[in-house]
Amino acid sequence: MALLRNRLKVMVTVMMINVFIFILIFRHSSQDKNRHPKVQIPTTTFWTKVTPSSAYWNLQQQILDLQDNPILLAYLNDTVMPDWLVDINLPSNPCQLNNKVTTQVKDYNSLPDRFKDFLLYMHCRSYPIVLDQPDICKSPPFLLLAVKSQVSHFDRRQAIRQSWGRAGVIANQTVVTVFLLGNATAWDYHPDLSSTLLDESARHKDIIQWDYRDSFFNLTVKEVLFLEWVQTRCPSARFIFKGDDDVFVNTYRILDFLKGLSEPKARDLFVGDVITDAGPHRDKKVKYFIPESLYIGKYPPYAGGGGYLYSGDIAARLYSSSEHVALYPIDDVYTGMCLRRLGLAPEKNKGFRTFDIEEKYRSNPCAYKSLMLVHPRTPQEMIKIWTWLSSPDLNCQ
Ligand SMILES: *[C@@H]1O[C@H](CO)[C@@H](O)[C@H](O)[C@H]1NC(C)=O
Ligand SMILES: *[C@@H]1O[C@H](CO)[C@@H](O)[C@H](O)[C@H]1NC(C)=O
Ligand SMILES: *[C@@H]1O[C@H](CO)[C@@H](O)[C@H](O)[C@H]1NC(C)=O
Ligand SMILES: *[C@@H]1O[C@H](CO)[C@@H](O)[C@H](O)[C@H]1NC(C)=O
Repeated sequence: MALLRNRLKVMVTVMMINVFIFILIFRHSSQDKNRHPKVQIPTTTFWTKVTPSSAYWNLQQQILDLQDNPILLAYLNDTVMPDWLVDINLPSNPCQLNNKVTTQVKDYNSLPDRFKDFLLYMHCRSYPIVLDQPDICKSPPFLLLAVKSQVSHFDRRQAIRQSWGRAGVIANQTVVTVFLLGNATAWDYHPDLSSTLLDESARHKDIIQWDYRDSFFNLTVKEVLFLEWVQTRCPSARFIFKGDDDVFVNTYRILDFLKGLSEPKARDLFVGDVITDAGPHRDKKVKYFIPESLYIGKYPPYAGGGGYLYSGDIAARLYSSSEHVALYPIDDVYTGMCLRRLGLAPEKNKGFRTFDIEEKYRSNPCAYKSLMLVHPRTPQEMIKIWTWLSSPDLNCQ
């Protein structure tokens, strides 16, 4: 009997607590109702008004962003279209010299010549291809090695062919190597080496050349032309390495690394020597100087142009992204911008040494065993290091 009474007591107490909680919740929610009597309708637009940037690249990017934004475009009808957007509408042929920049860029006249050259043709991204290898990827390679070179660098290309860029089958994977060239123009006082280049191309069938002036600020042109080339000539390459012709690449290590990747990781792969929290150099004497009239803001994370490795899948996405990013004079920063537009960031990998390794290790074969890229190396050094790494006697702990 006492047990039953105790149980009843517990039950009544639990019920009382429940009722109390219910009242609390009820009171709370009715207070809420009083605080928000009805749905709030915003009185202003939810986007911020676009004000034109004073920096030319940023302004061009704003225009591209508007062109890509159907909501803003619908809002910006003829009557409210801002002057700066109408005014800048470019000539129908983007490859025509664009004289408007001479007045649109504040300090145009005092800028170094390379900026003037860049600005006048900034909107042109298509140049005729003069040497092509249409069938080079007939059987799609596991790894495509794309090397940025210049017409006169015959020895570097030959050293790469004899070492890390040896095309064919390495460690059971197919590797294809191509060299990416522009034109060494008489304008820049380059000697005419075109017939020697033709011989080289006929012999090795690995030269891709476009007819544009091969200069530092035109490396971004090389990047977009290459991305387009990959889509037409080598769309099924599993992975792509793109780098300079003065680096040593440990192809063995790269293949090994790629084989170990999980499927999702492989699909979104973009690795290199990643630089974060950088911005434009404002010191006129630095090679990478960029004036405030051209660009303001920080740089997105980007992989140093000495060499980076990415998937064929990313290559396709980068190509479509690049069509919506205004050309920027520094090619590796530009690729970082295209990646960011895709919502991606390059991943840092310690195997990429674009700033070289400590001097005391440079002549130690084992120092290269676990690395993927070292910069810089001469043609002779490339062949020497490759010989070390290819030796069956190499024994590293
Ligand atoms: C243009 O847009 C403004 C603001 O959205 C609107 O008031 C105006 O009626 C529109 N004019 C035309 C011709 O659509
Ligand atoms: C290459 O493939 C063959 C046969 O599939 C295998 O025996 C050999 O171990 C592989 N070599 C390497 C380096 O993976
Ligand atoms: C490259 O430049 C040279 C000299 O400026 C010119 O003669 C030639 O037509 C250009 N094109 C190619 C593909 O060499
Ligand atoms: C890039 O190449 C084009 C075509 O040859 C040339 O007109 C332009 O001046 C070059 N730009 C730079 C920065 O050298």
